[in-house]
Amino acid sequence: MTSPALSFADQVRSVVARHRDDRGALLPVLHSLMEELGHIDPAAIPILADELNLSRADVHGVVTFYHDFRQTPPGRTKVRICRAEACQAVGGDELVERAKSRTGVGLGETTPDGAITLEQVFCLGNCALGPSVQVGDRLYGRVGAQQLDRLLEGAA
Ligand code: FES
Repeated sequence: MTSPALSFADQVRSVVARHRDDRGALLPVLHSLMEELGHIDPAAIPILADELNLSRADVHGVVTFYHDFRQTPPGRTKVRICRAEACQAVGGDELVERAKSRTGVGLGETTPDGAITLEQVFCLGNCALGPSVQVGDRLYGRVGAQQLDRLLEGAA
């Protein structure tokens, strides 16, 4: 974890410094920023471009291409619903629709109170017990509509 005493720009530069020798350093840097700061603040883009000798458009293009790179802070709890084949076959998509309607937000979005970020995921390694849902660090299998409602209420 980076020291909170560092300025935002220094935090970004220290992450870059750790990956400077990596081949194609931008992706490892972006993953590290996600781990440490929870999102890629748009203010990081010019710093990354400068540090890595890339254009701002190049950095912005990569950040916006990959859905895993959030540009806004995540909610306090991430609710991730599996949409890969095995879970889809047993109702994963219906759970996604229900979660969207219950929370009032779309995939990749956060409720206005900052409580829940709703995400889709493609396999949680729990295929035999689908549909699978991850709430924070906990994994749930064979999740039905009522259980989903309880999980969402618990995360709210
Ligand atoms: S397909 Fe959903 S956990 Fe693997």
